[in-house]
Amino acid sequence: MAIILDGKALARQVKQEVRAQVDAGGITPGLAVVIVGDNAASRIYVEAKKKDCAACGIASFEFALPADAGEAALLTLIDELNNRDDIHGILVQLPLPKGYSEQAVIQAISPTKDVDAFHFENVGKITTGDYIFLPCTPAGVMEILDHYGIDPAGKHCVVVGRSNIVGKPQALLLLHRHATVTICHSRTPDLAAMTRQADILVAAVGRAGLITADMIKPGAVVIDVAINRGEDGKIRGDVDFDGVAEVASHITPVPGGVGPMTRAVLLRNTLKAAQL
Ligand code: GUN
Repeated sequence: MAIILDGKALARQVKQEVRAQVDAGGITPGLAVVIVGDNAASRIYVEAKKKDCAACGIASFEFALPADAGEAALLTLIDELNNRDDIHGILVQLPLPKGYSEQAVIQAISPTKDVDAFHFENVGKITTGDYIFLPCTPAGVMEILDHYGIDPAGKHCVVVGRSNIVGKPQALLLLHRHATVTICHSRTPDLAAMTRQADILVAAVGRAGLITADMIKPGAVVIDVAINRGEDGKIRGDVDFDGVAEVASHITPVPGGVGPMTRAVLLRNTLKAAQL
């Protein structure tokens, strides 16, 4: 049975560190959370982020726009937030409703307030390893690996998923740590042949049950980034946890693995933005 990588406990530690630094510093970090429309999952994430902020002494400001507010109104709001001194971080919850250009919205956020690290300037800095903010989920994964003494150097890391939010930056962060990295995606012909080569497997696709025990090299470290909500309302990752836990050496649970660390890194990024 694999060792369970407890992201929830680690996130608690990170939050305590952030809280201590906020208490020791002179200013209250402020995070603006912008939500457009009424996506149920987004609503849950936004509430969670506000609660996390409160627990760490970070001020959170919610801006909720109706789905039909329009991109111009959203861009005007972002401009105001860019210019507010009490707001250090700006997060626009994705996905946006139909009719909005996510790229235009993300690029309107000041790079120094871009706590998601989605702006081109921050993406470029991540690519060269010369960053201010790291994207929350990939950075959370790296912290889990570090905390459990799992060094990616020289390992073959296989990232399944090529999103701008997770897959691509995850591959870069692993590469910076001297891993050999393979990125797989929906058009990879024989996914299992690739994943079986992984010393460290990161699953970030969004399809429950995609990764099964037969796709895992015995002793591999398996990181499940996905949050899939089933018809029964239960949350599952991409990994068939029970089966894979019999083969892997380490595995993250869903929930309680990467998710809490994503949220913890957001808090740390907000603190960093306030310190800039
Ligand atoms: N939607 C799903 N994940 C994220 C994230 O990390 N940041 C934002 N802004 N929206 C998301």
